[in-house]
Amino acid sequence: MSMNRREFTKLGLGAASLAAIGPSIASTEQIIQRAIPSSGELLPVIGLGTNRYGVGESESARAPLRAALTRFHELGGTLIDTAPGYRTSETVLGDLISELNIRNDLFLATKADKSDASETAGQMDDSAIKLKTNTVDLMQVHNLRAWKAALPIMREWKQGGRVRYIGITTSRSSHYAEFESAIRQEELDFIQINYSLEQREAAERILPLAADRGVAVIINRAFGGGRIFKAIGDNPLPDWAKEFGCSSWAQFLLKYACGHPAATVAIPGMTKLHHVDDNFGAAHGRLPDAGERIRQEKFYDAL
Ligand SMILES: NC(=O)c1ccc[n+]([C@@H]2O[C@H](COP(=O)([O-])OP(=O)(O)OC[C@H]3O[C@@H](n4cnc5c(N)ncnc54)[C@H](OP(=O)(O)O)[C@@H]3O)[C@@H](O)[C@H]2O)c1
Repeated sequence: MSMNRREFTKLGLGAASLAAIGPSIASTEQIIQRAIPSSGELLPVIGLGTNRYGVGESESARAPLRAALTRFHELGGTLIDTAPGYRTSETVLGDLISELNIRNDLFLATKADKSDASETAGQMDDSAIKLKTNTVDLMQVHNLRAWKAALPIMREWKQGGRVRYIGITTSRSSHYAEFESAIRQEELDFIQINYSLEQREAAERILPLAADRGVAVIINRAFGGGRIFKAIGDNPLPDWAKEFGCSSWAQFLLKYACGHPAATVAIPGMTKLHHVDDNFGAAHGRLPDAGERIRQEKFYDAL
């Protein structure tokens, strides 16, 4: 049996059912999925980053985002990452998701970045309203902001069923020491961190620690914000990239990031439909093994 995630959903077989059915069915799926360690729920390895979705009310600015989101959903994508800090991104997403009537197929992740517990609670309320959802799938402390105050209130919301998972995020190596302390001290479902062929520092301590602690990992900035494509320039993709199913540099970069054993989902920022098509190629075929990932590193370093 081979069917994609959307076909499973249509049959009423959501992620929880897939987790319950077990890895034999999941491994026949066309999309590569990874389990959230704290629950066993499966997520496609490619999600959507939306820090450029804060375009406001303009219909002409929203139209390409609607097209990208529609394709993301058609291809079986589920995890969408946003934040109150991304200007009007939460509002735009809430409107588009409601128009497309796809909320129940998605895994919505947002963040809080306030300095105390009461402001955090107010901001989480506001996010749920903007996203037009009763339950936020994942609530994250943005860039570790006041994490000691924010996590207890997020945990209360989790116990009350208003969020399903909690976590912390960063994209800066200057945060890593504190990030590591938080992972050791707290019971987290998720961390979100930058990791790419260009920025591999997370693999030194944080990713192994997350694996040890049973924490799911969202990878941000797998393209270094787009900078890596400039570094690659006109260099051709090596022939051996086809062995693990890459037909573009974007897939090469995403498969490297998702290929780390601790990684759960990568969330490339994508506002263009053709980028969604390209990047979803990384959720098909297989991921590179440890030896192939070292080969990718050596190849990239020699460019
Ligand atoms: N601390 C935090 O919590 C934190 C920090 C940074 C990022 N994030 C999250 O992580 C997400 C990803 O980070 P990011 O967006 O800054 O960086 P990124 O994913 O490394 O790069 C995004 C850039 O790559 C381009 N791109 C996407 N697919 C492409 C393809 N197939 N070929 C060529 N170019 C492609 C995008 O273009 P288009 O937009 O034109 O499609 C965009 O300019 C964010 O959107 C956000 O959700 C979180």
